[in-house]
Amino acid sequence: MGERFITDTLNREETDFDLTLRPATFGDFIGQTKVRERLELFVEAARRRGEALNHVLLFGPPGLGKTTLAYILANAMGVNIRSTSGPVLDKPGDLAGILTNLEEKDVLFIDEIHRLNRNVEEYLYCAMEEFVIDIVIDQGPNARSLRLNLPRFTLVGATTRSGLLSAPLRSRFGMSSRLDYYDPESLARIVGRSAGILDVEIDDEGAREIARRSRGTPRIANNLLRWVRDFAQVRADGRIDARVARDALAMLDIDEHGLDEMDKRILEAVIVKFGGGPVGINSLAVAVGEEAGTLEEVYEPYLIQEGFLKRTPHGRMATASAWGLLGLSPPGDQPRLL
Ligand SMILES: Nc1ncnc2c1ncn2[C@@H]1O[C@H](COP(=O)(O)OP(=O)(O)OP(=O)(O)O)[C@@H](O)[C@H]1O
Ligand SMILES: [Mg+2]
Repeated sequence: MGERFITDTLNREETDFDLTLRPATFGDFIGQTKVRERLELFVEAARRRGEALNHVLLFGPPGLGKTTLAYILANAMGVNIRSTSGPVLDKPGDLAGILTNLEEKDVLFIDEIHRLNRNVEEYLYCAMEEFVIDIVIDQGPNARSLRLNLPRFTLVGATTRSGLLSAPLRSRFGMSSRLDYYDPESLARIVGRSAGILDVEIDDEGAREIARRSRGTPRIANNLLRWVRDFAQVRADGRIDARVARDALAMLDIDEHGLDEMDKRILEAVIVKFGGGPVGINSLAVAVGEEAGTLEEVYEPYLIQEGFLKRTPHGRMATASAWGLLGLSPPGDQPRLL
């Protein structure tokens, strides 16, 4: 159940709960110091010049704050944000409709921008670069194309799969920033902040306990907090300390490292099917039934950061900790017969 809890949390649509906890300003955005400072400066410079912000690309694993930052950017610029996503923009006309309705300096947020179809993407190039679009009016023999000027808008694109972006699209962003997993200290602060908003009493140890199992991810931290809060209300006096947090998380079967189902499937495959590796990313992808790119960009970074997996010139290898996690000992530890 715990394994599913984490995967579901990452894949779920946004709820009111997420919206309540979403920071609205740079000041409330915890962690990711470098990215935050760079974006703040970028905004400040654009504001001083009285210009629209240059286009921004945000990438990194799910739940780390890409959408949040898009809203913060619009907020800091004092402009409207219009939000859509790659798969929703089916044809160029969909995009034209949105672009022509923007106001000067508005932010257009395109989530999952790697899933834009080719036609729409090419249409976007001109819009981003020259702030014009060509629309076709009338049909048949009367069809003609009309060039429309667009307001100077800011495109904020977000993706978990930056590797899938075409070079021309990528090159049209004035800034691109990668979000990385949060350190436990920042996550604990996020948990503390969220608890404050939810009006739940929590001590430092309790916040740290939740942070440790959140897979470096604020969205998971917030959702674990929600569960622990429910638990505390029913089983304790509503206050969250380390003990309450531990008991609550134990009930969810949350792995103490915050690994999810897919993380474990990956480690299991490397160890059981490939004898601990090295195994090439493509073979591994087939073994776990996931795209190689998703493994590389969404799952692997956390496993590497936590020291369960390493990249070698010959492929991925499980570390001793990964063997230990599965209750096995690495082959080197066993007495050899030959
Ligand atoms: N730096 C932060 N400080 C506090 N809370 C944060 C921070 N970053 C993210 N959050 C919280 O985590 C939640 C998830 O963030 P967000 O939706 O922005 O992630 P995302 O990167 O867009 O994920 P996805 O790739 O799944 O779209 C937000 O609702 C917000 O409450
Ligand atoms: Mg998002």
